Parts: sequence; C-alpha cells; structure tokens
Amino acid sequence: MSTYENLLFRSEDGVGIVTIHRPKALNALNAATIHELDRMFDELGSDDSIKVIIITGSGEKSFVAGADITEMQHMSAVEGRNWGKLAQAVFSKIENIPKPVIAAVNGYALGGGCELAMACDIRIASEKAKFGQPEVSLGIPPGFGGTQRLARLVGKGRAKELLFTGDMIDAAEAYRIGLVNKVTAPDELFNTAKAMAQKIMSRAPIAVQVCKAAVNEGLDVDLKSGIAYEAEVFGLCFATRDQKEGMTAFVEKRAPIFTGK
Ligand code: CAA
Repeated sequence: MSTYENLLFRSEDGVGIVTIHRPKALNALNAATIHELDRMFDELGSDDSIKVIIITGSGEKSFVAGADITEMQHMSAVEGRNWGKLAQAVFSKIENIPKPVIAAVNGYALGGGCELAMACDIRIASEKAKFGQPEVSLGIPPGFGGTQRLARLVGKGRAKELLFTGDMIDAAEAYRIGLVNKVTAPDELFNTAKAMAQKIMSRAPIAVQVCKAAVNEGLDVDLKSGIAYEAEVFGLCFATRDQKEGMTAFVEKRAPIFTGK
C-alpha cells in the first residue's frame, strides 16, 4: 500500500480498513482526500488479499462532516461542476468495486459524508451517528450523488424532506427509514462491522460479487433488463468450483470450503 496523508489503512484477516483521517476538520473531504480515496480504491481493487472493505472516520465525533467548505467557498460554476464530477466518479468507483464495502459510521455523516456512506454497500451506525444533507443551508444541493442515492435508499418523499430541510437525523431515525442497516453501541461499532465482513467472507466470493453487480446493475435499468442480467450471472456461477462445493457440501451435510474459484 502506498503512502497517504488523509487516509489510514490497515488490514485484518482479509478485511481492509480505510479510515478518513482529517481530525482538525472532522474528516471533511478536501480535494486531496478525494484523490487519495481514488488511489486507495484502485489499490484495494487489485489487492487479492483484501476481500471486504470497511470505511470509517477518525476519532469519536465524526465519520465525515461533508465536503470541505473552505475549499468550495470561492469556487466558480465550472470548478463546482468539475469538483462534483470528480467526487461522483470516485464514489462510483467505491460503489462498483467488486468487493463488499461496509461503512462503519462513527459520528457525523453530513453532506459528502452521508453521500460517502450511501456509496457503500452496507451502513452500520454507532448510536452516536448523525446523518443529514445540510447543503441547502450553504446555498447548494448535494453534489456527490446525494440527490440520487438518498431517494433510492429511503424513497422520494423522505429524501426530499431531508434534502429540503437540511435536517440532521440520529441513528435510530436513520435505521427506521432504511438509511442504515444496523445500529450499535459506539464501542461495538467496529466489531459489528468486522463480524459482518467475516460472515460475508465465509460465503462463496464469486456469488457475493455477482450479487453486488446484479443489484447495482438492476437499479440502473428496468426490471426486465435486471432480471435478464440476473439470469446471466446465475448461469455463470454454475461454472465455478464454489457452486459444486456449496451444493456438494449441502448434500453431504457438512460446511462448504469455498476457494473463490
Ligand atoms: N468543511 C470544512 N471544515 C469543517 C467542516 C466542513 N464540512 N465541518 C467541520 N469543519 C471544521 C470546522 O470549521 C472546525 O474547524 P476550526 O476548529 O478550524 O474552526 C472543526 O471542523 C470542528 O468543527 P466545529 O467547531 O463546527 O464542531 P461542532 O461540534 O461545533 O459542529 C458540525 C460539528 C455540526 C458537524 C459542524 O462542524 C458542521 O455543521 N459542519 C459542516 C457540515 C456541513 O454542512 N456539511 C456539508 C458540506 S457541503 C457538502 O458536503 C457538499 C456535497 O454534497 C459534497
């Protein structure tokens, strides 16, 4: 792994843990951090030893408190559009990396922070986490995919309420509306995320990978095309050793030993 200024990385038992680390700015995403995330996800994508990725924020208080407002303050329209496109591309890279990505949301997930969490496959929140898209208080809409992914996750009406009011919601409310998958005590957050990562890792890797691709692909197209895509990846998996192993293990009443082949 190459060196990073605003990201920390460690690997534990096949789980890659990426920590956004700009403590002085509550881990706000400046351009340097977005470029580092881009490079980090390129590295993680080609590192076969990393099976599942967890993204979290440094410190107790914040996951990511949004895009860096001091950097955006004097941007022109063209710079704003380019900044949005850059971060959108990086978040799409995270969303589509062929490995599960879990956001362990330890505190504020505001603006670009909520958008980063939404680009992950699964969100686990500490009871102390707070979510929101407060951009309208700054004179802008969300620009890192928030208007699109929030509506897809929580529905049009709830998304519009959060977007129009800029209100912050706590973890319990985020869970109630389906923005997060699970809520845990703050000191259980990492272990809960890691336990989920390990459970996913015990399943057939190619099957998990195609589930991710099929859900992502399917949400971009009509049902008929999504179903057709599913049939293709369903069929392809019968060419894997893991399909033979999984079904043989079931018939032999033993645990499967998957190899990712
Ligand atoms: N950008 C730059 N700096 C930020 C920041 C941000 N998004 N969020 C916090 N900081 C900085 C603060 O300026 C402060 O720095 P100084 O110590 O140098 O003054 C430091 O982090 C600590 O923050 P606070 O003193 O404000 O801490 P607090 O506990 O009083 O409040 C908070 C915490 C409610 C999260 C508050 O910091 C806040 O409202 N932050 C901004 C949240 C926001 O509006 N995010 C959306 C940004 S726009 C965006 O993300 C667009 C997009 O779609 C991509």
